[in-house]
Amino acid sequence: MSPLMLVSTLLALNILLSGAELQRFEHGAKVEGSLSLLVVGDWGRRGAYNQSQVARQMGIIGEKLDTDFIISTGDNFYDDGLTGLEDPAFHESFTNIYTAPSLQKQWYNVLGNHDYRGNVEAQLSPVLRGIDSRWFCLRSFIVDTELAEFFFVDTTPFADKYFHETDHTYDWSGIQPRETYLSTLLKDLDLGLKESTAKWKIVVGHHTIKSAGHHGNTVELNARLLPILQENNVDLYINGHDHCLQHISSSDSPLQFLTSGGGSKAWKGDISWWNPEEMKFYYDGQGFMSLQITQTDVYVVFYDAFGQVLHTWNRTKQLYYEM
Ligand SMILES: *[C@@H]1O[C@H](CO)[C@@H](O)[C@H](O)[C@H]1NC(C)=O
Ligand SMILES: *[C@@H]1O[C@H](CO)[C@@H](O)[C@H](O)[C@H]1NC(C)=O
Repeated sequence: MSPLMLVSTLLALNILLSGAELQRFEHGAKVEGSLSLLVVGDWGRRGAYNQSQVARQMGIIGEKLDTDFIISTGDNFYDDGLTGLEDPAFHESFTNIYTAPSLQKQWYNVLGNHDYRGNVEAQLSPVLRGIDSRWFCLRSFIVDTELAEFFFVDTTPFADKYFHETDHTYDWSGIQPRETYLSTLLKDLDLGLKESTAKWKIVVGHHTIKSAGHHGNTVELNARLLPILQENNVDLYINGHDHCLQHISSSDSPLQFLTSGGGSKAWKGDISWWNPEEMKFYYDGQGFMSLQITQTDVYVVFYDAFGQVLHTWNRTKQLYYEM
């Protein structure tokens, strides 16, 4: 093969490969090499069900931690997503609620099942970013901070039940044919995780993998997503969907399952039995979570609607860490 042919073959291959990859965005950590962020889920209720109260406490904690960005685990707008770009819910549930100076940071949002009941393209549209520059929502994407890499995964299309539901309509435009969409997404995620050189690998989705809450485990994600997370030594899986705060550890891998779905309406007392060895924490009220990350440590804190610390967890990895 001539050198020119080789170059063009490599170029074609590169285009082919990058064409399949998840979109990647850079978000620098702090100069001293640390990162702090807040995680909230299941929130958009125009301030009701303590949404405003949680938002206020996020503002206070966010100030203390000097938050770099905020992660939303989905169900951004109840009950049925956004009707379109003009939907006042965008202001009423987002812009006018998370008003604290410390929350004027980039928000990385995934879509929840309730968002799929509305106009999905509207939530994904860059026009919303024009209205409120904090807003950032794509189906699946990567945020690379070098220190940690965040893989945001669109989990709603995995769950069979939405495709069989008759009392709600879902906006599946853009994800058909479904099986092609799901297998491509999993392949891209696997590739992204394999290529990642970040010390910490964190995957964010709306649906639970493991949960003692109302919805429980999502069987489709246990079957298809969990093996990929385990194989690639993912540190944390962060989700919403169950309206609670929860930390489950795994007995067969270092992976931790963190639910932050307490952004508004909570489901009191809706808990199933769980192996106490793995169940580190469960709170059936409202609140949110923070993550503080350095080269050697990750530190997780859960807060209630008064900003009280409910649970903390940390892990240390040596500076030169080999799996
Ligand atoms: C708001 O939070 C308080 C304290 O957790 C709780 O007692 C109350 O029931 C919550 N209100 C709603 C509407 O969820
Ligand atoms: C980190 O976790 C260990 C083990 O659970 C605990 O002893 C230590 O106090 C924790 N560190 C912090 C800063 O919370």
